[in-house]
Amino acid sequence: MFLFFAVGNYACFKNAGCGTILLKGEGVNMKIIKNKALWLVMAFYTSVLALLYSSARVSYYFIDRDSVKGLSVGLLVLMIAVFVLQLFTFLRGKNLREKHLKALFIAAIVFNVIFTAVVIAYAVMGWEMWDDYAYYIRISLPYFLIIWFGVASILLLPFLKGKMKAIGSAVLCVCLLFGIVVIAFKPFHFQFAAQPTVFVKSEDTYSVVWATNAPSTGELVIESGGTTQHLYDENAGNLRTNDCVHHISVPMSVLNNCSRYKVISTRVKERTGYSLWSGKTIESEDYSFQAVKDDEENLNIWSLSDWHEHASLAQKAVADFPKADVLIACGDELNMVNDQKGVIEHLLAPCAQFTHSSIPVIFVRGNHECRGDYASELMSDLGLNSFYYTFRLGSLGGVVLDMGEGNADDFIEYWSLADYEAYRDEQEKFLETLKLPKTKYRFAISHDERFEANMSSEDSDNPRRDRSGIVTYLNRMGIDLLVAGHLHESIVRPTGENGREFVSFVDGGINKENVYSAGLIEINGKTMTLSTVDSNGKTVLTQEVALNNK
Ligand SMILES: [Fe+2]
Repeated sequence: MFLFFAVGNYACFKNAGCGTILLKGEGVNMKIIKNKALWLVMAFYTSVLALLYSSARVSYYFIDRDSVKGLSVGLLVLMIAVFVLQLFTFLRGKNLREKHLKALFIAAIVFNVIFTAVVIAYAVMGWEMWDDYAYYIRISLPYFLIIWFGVASILLLPFLKGKMKAIGSAVLCVCLLFGIVVIAFKPFHFQFAAQPTVFVKSEDTYSVVWATNAPSTGELVIESGGTTQHLYDENAGNLRTNDCVHHISVPMSVLNNCSRYKVISTRVKERTGYSLWSGKTIESEDYSFQAVKDDEENLNIWSLSDWHEHASLAQKAVADFPKADVLIACGDELNMVNDQKGVIEHLLAPCAQFTHSSIPVIFVRGNHECRGDYASELMSDLGLNSFYYTFRLGSLGGVVLDMGEGNADDFIEYWSLADYEAYRDEQEKFLETLKLPKTKYRFAISHDERFEANMSSEDSDNPRRDRSGIVTYLNRMGIDLLVAGHLHESIVRPTGENGREFVSFVDGGINKENVYSAGLIEINGKTMTLSTVDSNGKTVLTQEVALNNK
């Protein structure tokens, strides 16, 4: 990208004799300035900058907050204006007086240099959010393609002569044909985009979730004691065919006792009222599921939070961990939930890789899963009924909580789209009378463990309502451990802190140096060892704590 900017600017300067302008003022080569092709190239270059700059719109709020309100959108409008101005000069330049043409040329060059610098600055500052920038490029690209195609066919083609005209027409026709074929037939290799993950849905139900790279059907085949059971991703008897993510609820007793299971999907290209145009059928490998036994004393539980779209770092951090019995996906796997593709790439595929599709995953929503266009679809994609729920996995039981966003609902970044205080009220009510399943070990899990008024310094001017009542309820339930993330630190809070009659474990996550820490909870009947290990293989924290004597 940098190379492109450099070459683009150098070409503009060199071809137009801009260096001469800046050095000698009057030494402009008018022949070059009057060259229509140059204006078209510059207009195209500005439009590419506008596309790249618009892809960073997720950061506009922060830039405006720290500079001038409306600056970011103003800059985008200016880019569009310069683009239009260059097109206008391409069309009507010959009617302008030389001094006006020179002035327009200098203005265009100066603005293009400024725009290039802005785009480079955004790219450098936001390189960690490249996936999100790529998402916005993807959704903006069709609009820009229409503009480019329109400009090329309406403005450029009549301008071309002889052989060039024939070549230009042929290129445009090929582009058009290619676009139609892609839209109509979606010609790509159909495959799994994420292998299955077994999410915990309730005390007695799993939700098996996987994804394909095109809309398809979903079938779960479970073999147990010589019998084969077929379950389908369906809605009131109707097989779902218009989605890439499949989720099937299955009783824990069925999957816990199976000898193996697999998932099958058939691509569906078109489903009419009376016909089906289907494609390839794909099958996963056979998986054997390892359930936690009711009397199991020794457990290895991985708690991974806040990988923020850097699952590969989390993968490095757990490389030497003992095999897990349970994975806690403790929130903020994504930066924001823009679309289903993001859910597949940053949540479903990593969870399947961490667990080899063979152990249960307890999903905990993080505050970053509350953000983005697709955030309200996440629960449905995971086949869950709620983001707060109780669970029972053999000897491990407990409750998952969801604090939603980190600040008060009227925090400016939420744009009046948050109603989490009422949602947290609902959970306090749920906890008031909750009886946890009778299990040997009891966990409470919450992405954000700051139940007391939100005390982080950056948020202190806009705190959430105090929820320390939750601690009282958890004390009553005899929780062994509270597991959390969110703080991007490895912390063990001893019993007694903030009135808590249980130990709290904050499992790490990614830090500012791009080093990821993963949490490991090893239980051996009498004690728990809480550790975090980072993506460089360094043990950040390790502490042995006694279990509650209930
Ligand atoms: Fe968080």
